[in-house]
Amino acid sequence: MRVLSGIQPTGNLHLGNYLGAIRNWVKMQDEMDAESACFFFLADLHSITVHEEREARIRNVREMAAALIACGIDADRSVLFNQARVPAHAELAWLLNGTARIGWLNRMTQFKDKAGKNREGASVGLFVYPVLQAADILLYQATHVPVGEDQKQHLELTRDIAMKFNTDFGVELFTLPDPYIPKESARIMSLRDGNAKMSKSDPSDMSRINLTDTDDEIAQKIRKAKTDPEPLPDVASALEGRAEALNLIGIYATLTESTPDAVCAQFAGQGFGAFKPALAEVLVDTLRPIRERFVELKDDEAALDAILDKGAEKARSVAAPTLSGAYEALGLMR
Ligand code: TYM
Repeated sequence: MRVLSGIQPTGNLHLGNYLGAIRNWVKMQDEMDAESACFFFLADLHSITVHEEREARIRNVREMAAALIACGIDADRSVLFNQARVPAHAELAWLLNGTARIGWLNRMTQFKDKAGKNREGASVGLFVYPVLQAADILLYQATHVPVGEDQKQHLELTRDIAMKFNTDFGVELFTLPDPYIPKESARIMSLRDGNAKMSKSDPSDMSRINLTDTDDEIAQKIRKAKTDPEPLPDVASALEGRAEALNLIGIYATLTESTPDAVCAQFAGQGFGAFKPALAEVLVDTLRPIRERFVELKDDEAALDAILDKGAEKARSVAAPTLSGAYEALGLMR
């Protein structure tokens, strides 16, 4: 079993990242036996598909490392690094470009969403983004990849690339990874629109809870979150068609390790005036300690760089045999 996952170091971690992915990273890390490490990385090579100033990029990598550690990633047990420190990612991505098909990439919904109407003006990097993601995963023979629902298609593509490479070159080089997607929190929605994903790129900060938000900001965002005037039903199935209500109940259930049915039973007959303060309270209780640790860690550049250096060294050594195997299979002499 090998657990691996990544996150783009662009801007703040938000509640969607935390409940959809990072919380599971920490759980899987904590359940791992002492000999096997999990691999978690900052996808800074992916982040060049979004324009950013150089200084911001440097800062964002360190801050995302600090945020992951604040969430519970332990750099002594897990391998924490950024892609740019491990050239094998870019190298394998190039080799896999010979295997991935344009038709496969054309079907990627994330590319369609991000490129929008101006496809011709989108960067090549944005188009081949999923091939780099496949390289990230296949380099380490990952078996379990904890991600939110929006990454499922990229995982399927990774399997297709791995299978075609193994078949085309008659090797058993790449392991086929499985996505590990949480049941309740796979898709946390915007607080302003229950049909849109909570995301870093939403222009309205009121649409998301950032892990750096103060207690007051969290309470205010929940108070202003879009809802409906109906009281809560006693079973979650009755929430159908009430996207915003379903999202908030799902967040509460995930944070309290409960189920939407149990949360409905608890608040049945009450309106959002009663439910929202309870939700704000569990959010504040969960996020406050993370925020406090993050603030302590984020400015210690030397310590964060040392952690990423150490992680990258380990990552390079684990990635090397797979990369060599790919060159070898292709007949590329080094
Ligand atoms: P990224 O940086 O967009 O998001 C990081 C993780 O957070 C999850 N996530 C969500 N989960 C639930 N609800 C939401 N609203 C929500 N928003 C984000 C994402 O599913 C993801 O798990 N391409 C990836 C980074 C990546 C990667 C990889 C992941 C690069 N290489 C290899 C796994 C394996 C991305 O942009 O995630």
